Amino acid sequence: MYLDTANLAEISEAFKTGVFQGVTTNPTILLKEKTDRMKQIRDILALGISRLYVQVLGDSAEALIEDYRRVRSLNEEGRIAYKVSMDVHGLEAVKRIKEEDPDAEILGTAIYSADQAILGALAGCDSVAPYVNRMENNGVNPFEAIQKMRMFFDDRGLACTIVAASFKNTNQIVGALTAGAHTATIPYDLFLQMINKDVAVNAIKVFNQHGEELERQTR
Ligand code: G3P
Repeated sequence: MYLDTANLAEISEAFKTGVFQGVTTNPTILLKEKTDRMKQIRDILALGISRLYVQVLGDSAEALIEDYRRVRSLNEEGRIAYKVSMDVHGLEAVKRIKEEDPDAEILGTAIYSADQAILGALAGCDSVAPYVNRMENNGVNPFEAIQKMRMFFDDRGLACTIVAASFKNTNQIVGALTAGAHTATIPYDLFLQMINKDVAVNAIKVFNQHGEELERQTR
């Protein structure tokens, strides 16, 4: 599982749990932190995160490559992976980045359909990020789309993983994972909602009260 945030406090808290393999960001997520982008990337890496996804920016392949090189300058330890938006410029950028650095790990992002994901995988993306909630908002069934992507990748032996993204509720997360997504990237509030169920929290409270009561009775 990945954490979809650039907030240092959220990252520090969530990474105490052993659930998360890395952090994903995008320009919107970084904007919320109101800090220089390169500084925020350095600060997140300083928390010891082993995989940080940074989206490269630009409206042409050339611009995307230029930004990729800028971000790569922070990647001395190989902990940064690159997100590339999946339009025709993004496809070209993926090919060129892989030619420049075959080890660069690339996540094809802003995916709203199975066909877009299939082209991303064929272009050389290591993973693709279908936007579950945004698909639903646009009348696309994200779970069917994820099933199709997974079937295509598995049938052809493509080593492209599905990192489901864009969630507004926890059912969407479980739905994406059970539809065939290899993993998901989730916001911090949904992480808490997945685990801190009111009924479970209340049950844990009662167990603790009963434990204390027994302690008092048998002292
Ligand atoms: O990782 C991509 C994701 O952050 C997009 O999410 O909530 O803006 O649809 P959202």
